[in-house]
Amino acid sequence: MTDAPSTDALRIEGLRTGYGPTVVLEDISLSLPECGALAILGRNGVGKTTLLASIMGHSTFHAGSIAYRGKPIHALPVHERARLGIGYVPQTRDIFPSLTIEENLLVAARPGRWPVERVYELFPRLAERRGHMGNQISGGEQQMLAMGRALMGDPALLLLDEPLEGLAPIIVQSLLASIRRLIRDEGLTVILVEQSAKLALEVTDQALVLNRGRIAYAGASAELLLNPERLTELVMAG
Ligand SMILES: Nc1ncnc2c1ncn2[C@@H]1O[C@H](COP(=O)(O)OP(=O)(O)O)[C@@H](O)[C@H]1O
Ligand SMILES: [Mg+2]
Repeated sequence: MTDAPSTDALRIEGLRTGYGPTVVLEDISLSLPECGALAILGRNGVGKTTLLASIMGHSTFHAGSIAYRGKPIHALPVHERARLGIGYVPQTRDIFPSLTIEENLLVAARPGRWPVERVYELFPRLAERRGHMGNQISGGEQQMLAMGRALMGDPALLLLDEPLEGLAPIIVQSLLASIRRLIRDEGLTVILVEQSAKLALEVTDQALVLNRGRIAYAGASAELLLNPERLTELVMAG
């Protein structure tokens, strides 16, 4: 065994963030190793999106620290965090409606591991529909496009905000398979915000339950998967 110093992909300590003077998240600490996968669970309004937004730089920072691969990033603007390798797929997907699928992908292109051909290989449906406009595609295709566009920026850490929301079960299974592949085969570090706790716990190794802007649980996903009553208690408490 070697004990070379290992740097976490992401380390958050004592984070307090919100919007303007309003504080939403309080005393958030977490660490996520490279290639780790973290589920963020909790009811509507507890601050899941705000946590992802804070990692990306879209919220107001009040206190604490966020380090990405050992480097403090909480004072950096969004585009610099993206350049360092953080990719964000917002809950709103933010597809450009009057661009084609292919144009939506190419606007985000950066040299790296995800040329458009590899995105098409991960999501063959996007290849089939590459000439369709952003406003002509289904919700599942929009989600694939939003994920594909984030990958085109060649992230090492991918933040996914409710990617399965409102999608038909067959599309959910297909997206989950793609997310699994990104974690297991592509070596991405992933943070997955999800309403469906069971699905999220199945594809991640660590989980965080938020309640009213604070951490109610931090631990193994498997532990919550094996103990659904505990999970319900954690989510519903407060
Ligand atoms: N842009 C914003 N400005 C002010 N308050 C916001 C904004 N976005 C979200 N909030 C508030 O922050 C809290 C957490 O919201 P959010 O992070 O979206 O929760 P979740 O994603 O868990 O549903 C809520 O009380 C919400 O009303
Ligand atoms: Mg949200």
